[in-house]
Amino acid sequence: MRPHLGPSLGATTLSALLLVTATALACGGASDDASAMDGGTGGDGDGGDGSGSGSGDADGGSGVSGENLYLGVCSSCHGVEAEGTPLGYELRHPPREHAQWVVRNGRPGDEFEGSQMLAYSPEAISDADLQAIFDYLDAFEVPTEGPELYLDYCGNCHGPDAAGGVVGVDIRDKEFNDILEKVRQGIGLGNPGGRTTYMPQWDAATLDDAQVQRIADAIPTL
Ligand code: HEC
Ligand code: HEC
Repeated sequence: MRPHLGPSLGATTLSALLLVTATALACGGASDDASAMDGGTGGDGDGGDGSGSGSGDADGGSGVSGENLYLGVCSSCHGVEAEGTPLGYELRHPPREHAQWVVRNGRPGDEFEGSQMLAYSPEAISDADLQAIFDYLDAFEVPTEGPELYLDYCGNCHGPDAAGGVVGVDIRDKEFNDILEKVRQGIGLGNPGGRTTYMPQWDAATLDDAQVQRIADAIPTL
């Protein structure tokens, strides 16, 4: 569909990684952290600079902000505003268990021609850095209208029109109470890899009843 995007992907990803490195260096005073990033994400692995490329910082961040990590490593496919592109989904307000699983395990990206979601190991992106990326993605303004709420929270799985999408579950004829129950309880929790069997769960602090109501009202209009 967009074959011209395929060949440029490698170069785009590489320059994105270089951008992270440049950003880290530009921030100054974080050269140790920056070299940790190099070794992890760049795969250029000449880690012989004697600075101890051990895993001692596994629980720590790289010192690079969640925003800059996102812009450097993820935005080439998911968009500079996490709005989505022809190479990857919109990513605002990701449910953490789901998002963490996808980042750690990767996914083939069948819906995105010429793209795929690679698996990033904790050595490439530490748990702390990943949480910083998710915190950044959570900070986008939450939409007020039902259709936009739907696209943000449900559309990647059930499809833009709620007719099934990648998980093949049509939710156009569901009653509000049924929708609310599924949103609050989730489905198949604990197995986030189950594409057609797993649905995340949102508590009322994340998505309140009025917001779920607006989503339910919007679904038949999509
Ligand atoms: C080379 C392009 C590319 C890059 C770079 C990339 N992704 Fe992805 N990502 C994808 C594609 C394609 C999918 C869809 C995979 C699928 O569902 O099969 C995806 C899916 C995801 C999902 C699941 C979204 C959902 O609603 O199901 C998350 C979360 C995610 N990516 C996070 C990230 C993060 C965080 C980064 C940066 C650390 C990143 N991605 C970098 C292409 C990319
Ligand atoms: C990560 C993917 C994913 C997201 C995001 C997601 N769902 Fe689901 N949903 C599923 C899957 C998979 C099922 C079917 C699970 C099963 O029955 O085994 C499902 C089932 C449902 C059902 C029950 C359908 C039936 O036939 O019983 C409803 C209702 C529903 N989802 C609504 C929503 C709403 C509303 C949102 C957004 C707030 C949402 N889902 C977000 C994956 C997702």
